[in-house]
Amino acid sequence: MAMALELAKGGQGWVEPNPMVGCVVVRDGELIASGFHERFGGPHAEVHALRGLDAEVLSQSTLYVTLEPCAHHGKTPPCVELLLSKPPSRVVVAMQDPFEKVAGLGISRLQQTGIHVTTGVLEEQARRLNAPYLKRLASGFPWVITKWAMTLDGAIATGSLDSKWISNELSRQQVHRLRSRVDAVVVGSSTVLADDPLLTARLGPGELVARTAMRVVLDRRFRTMESSQLVRTAREAPVIVVVDREALAQVPDKRRAFDRAGAEFLELERGQSQDPAAGLEHVLREIVRRGGTNVLVEGGAMVMGSLFDARLVDQVECYIAPKVIGGLEARRAVGGVGVESIALGAGFQETHWETLGADLHFSGILARCPTDRSGGAD
Ligand SMILES: NC(=O)c1ccc[n+]([C@@H]2O[C@H](COP(=O)([O-])OP(=O)(O)OC[C@H]3O[C@@H](n4cnc5c(N)ncnc54)[C@H](OP(=O)(O)O)[C@@H]3O)[C@@H](O)[C@H]2O)c1
Ligand SMILES: [Zn+2]
Repeated sequence: MAMALELAKGGQGWVEPNPMVGCVVVRDGELIASGFHERFGGPHAEVHALRGLDAEVLSQSTLYVTLEPCAHHGKTPPCVELLLSKPPSRVVVAMQDPFEKVAGLGISRLQQTGIHVTTGVLEEQARRLNAPYLKRLASGFPWVITKWAMTLDGAIATGSLDSKWISNELSRQQVHRLRSRVDAVVVGSSTVLADDPLLTARLGPGELVARTAMRVVLDRRFRTMESSQLVRTAREAPVIVVVDREALAQVPDKRRAFDRAGAEFLELERGQSQDPAAGLEHVLREIVRRGGTNVLVEGGAMVMGSLFDARLVDQVECYIAPKVIGGLEARRAVGGVGVESIALGAGFQETHWETLGADLHFSGILARCPTDRSGGAD
């Protein structure tokens, strides 16, 4: 099962909004076939693994799969039918699929025909692997990854808003890889005004972009410029400007210019505009409505602050550079209201540190608490 889970990761960025799934077939303790769900709309893991195996061999084998086999006609025929047409002697499943059209049906169909099924093997790891998929199904919210680069003294920009470059080339390459597998990249309007970022995934030779993220600017006052790199490239990768409805109505010429450039608007009603958490939740739900599962928020401090205040963050990717800039006016990584005591600060259930040249990279999954609105990763 550990091998199947490892294989499944090959689909990251390629299969969403589907879950990542891996499958291996073992006979007499020997691996005889394997496969994973590689592309959205493509064959499921079981189909890849069973391809070319004859029924006789399968009847003496155990099939390990990281998610309950599907029982419904989706983009492909149900895997349960395939398994019933040439049944393995035993099927081991890491976890049930909570998707309403499966939800236990796949497992019970197999059991009804006398196949021995074991479930719950490495279930926690399987849940962690597909935490974004599970969160979206359970709550209607996408998985929110926040990313920032900061100096050793915790700044993401100087007081005069200079921020280029804090992290090193290796760190920045990793961020481009992250962008290449998420559904949306979100930033605050001040970051667009200060940095004029492109927010696209620029990868090295031989590396593939799994999907093109929509680029989302949180901009209630509609300050983003028509001349910005984002707007000028709106036909190459989608751009969504999140604006206050009234602010947008006041500048019809500017609106038309954005329309012509191919940028889209997501309008906030007054209530959503005045309450930062309500505005963010609306944006996140809209990303899910458009088929998104993973969202990367790249700052700045005000946007991060609102996200942490509203407890909407699932994962942090932080790059720390060996640099000290000082200055009380420098921008801290996370603004917002914050918490009153250290005990109330956001903690992590999982942390990973690595060095990238002289930079330090932190990756962590936030610990969940009962007051979270987003549903969480389970
Ligand atoms: N080192 C890094 O990793 C990094 C990353 C990003 C940015 N930066 C730096 O950070 C600086 C900008 O950061 P910043 O904190 O000043 O601004 P920011 O967070 O980029 O943008 C703030 C603006 O976003 C808009 N916004 C819309 N919805 C919001 C919400 N729910 N919560 C908060 N803001 C919302 C607000 O304008 P409206 O009221 O008009 O909506 C607000 O003024 C720049 O210097 C940039 O270079 C550094
Ligand atoms: Zn299937």
